[in-house]
Amino acid sequence: MKRKPGWTLEQAFYISPEIFRDDMAGVFGQSWLFAGHQCQIPQPGDFFVYDMARDSLVILHGMDGVIRALHNVCRHRGTRLCDSGSGHMDKIVCPYHQWRYDTAGTLQATTWMGDDFDPAQFSLHQAQVRNVAGLIYVCLSDTPPDFEQAVADLTRLLEPHGLDNAKIAYSETYRIRGNWKLVIENQRECYHCPAKHKAYAKIQHDTDVHDADKQDMLQARVDGARQKWTAMGLDTSHVRPDSGFSGGWWRANRTPFRSGYVSETMDGQQVAPLMGSFTEADVGNARANTYPNFWLHASCDHVHIVRVIPIDAETTELQADWLVHADAVEGTDYEVDAVIAFSKLVNDEDHDIVMGQARGVGSSRYQPGPLSPVKEEMVDHFLDWYMTKQGTE
Ligand code: FES
Ligand SMILES: [Fe+2]
Repeated sequence: MKRKPGWTLEQAFYISPEIFRDDMAGVFGQSWLFAGHQCQIPQPGDFFVYDMARDSLVILHGMDGVIRALHNVCRHRGTRLCDSGSGHMDKIVCPYHQWRYDTAGTLQATTWMGDDFDPAQFSLHQAQVRNVAGLIYVCLSDTPPDFEQAVADLTRLLEPHGLDNAKIAYSETYRIRGNWKLVIENQRECYHCPAKHKAYAKIQHDTDVHDADKQDMLQARVDGARQKWTAMGLDTSHVRPDSGFSGGWWRANRTPFRSGYVSETMDGQQVAPLMGSFTEADVGNARANTYPNFWLHASCDHVHIVRVIPIDAETTELQADWLVHADAVEGTDYEVDAVIAFSKLVNDEDHDIVMGQARGVGSSRYQPGPLSPVKEEMVDHFLDWYMTKQGTE
């Protein structure tokens, strides 16, 4: 099935279980996926489970200090080793016949397997894993896409925010009735922002970027920010007033807020201690995406991160985490409500839109529609990337 360039997808791409299976194998199975945070597993033995479609990985900080992504599948008869969630363990014991593995995935002990049994042949399978400035990425494919430029761009942008010295202040899992691609499409444009995101448009410049009479103001804002941030030692190779393109399937850029605002909070002011290496609040908004499952907005005092979890062709979960400085004390240094209110509002507004769109897209009268070449360029970019990955073009 083809896609007309510059148009949305045929209906089947949003509702068909067969295409969903292809998406999981061809897109999610072959991409670098954001799995979670380094700060979830600070100590040797700490782990969390990352479930992705039919696969499950144990992201484990080994007793040797190495972070691994072990397939959650016993090498004996395939039993799932760890239930969903997180915790601490210094060995992995299969609940079925008690085969025991060390935290590097090496089989250490079995019973009744006979004299010619060679445990060295039965280590747990491992996925590719990378720690990118505190963000843990995995790839299920043995031939992962090249990640080096994305790692460099994301690291340059995010290292100053100190995600590796953070803690999760709040998490929320949303269940959306709609295909995962509708979620990403919506995230990649701000055409809907003037009508749907009034609080967002009040502190961010995205809604100005195509207005002829705002160009001088925006240029001055970007130039001023670049000068200031360069002096602060921040990377300024991708400073822009919106969330545009930078890499092939990722982007990493820093965005000035509207004048007078320094954080994605309801009043645009700092509500928690500065993170990372910052000594002042006016560092703009670092924004990053990696297709197909991750985006982030980082302010001086907190970071809002979303992981997209496709459930079936018409259901998607979104795991949203809000990070603050590791040493920040709730109730003293910050209030959770103040940290999360702004992004929670934007999330709710977006989820409403996506679910309304999904209902229309699933109806008998849906047909692909034309994208705005000005306002929805990045939707087109995502769908182009998707069709290449999905392999159906
Ligand atoms: S299935 Fe794991 S020990 Fe038997
Ligand atoms: Fe939105």
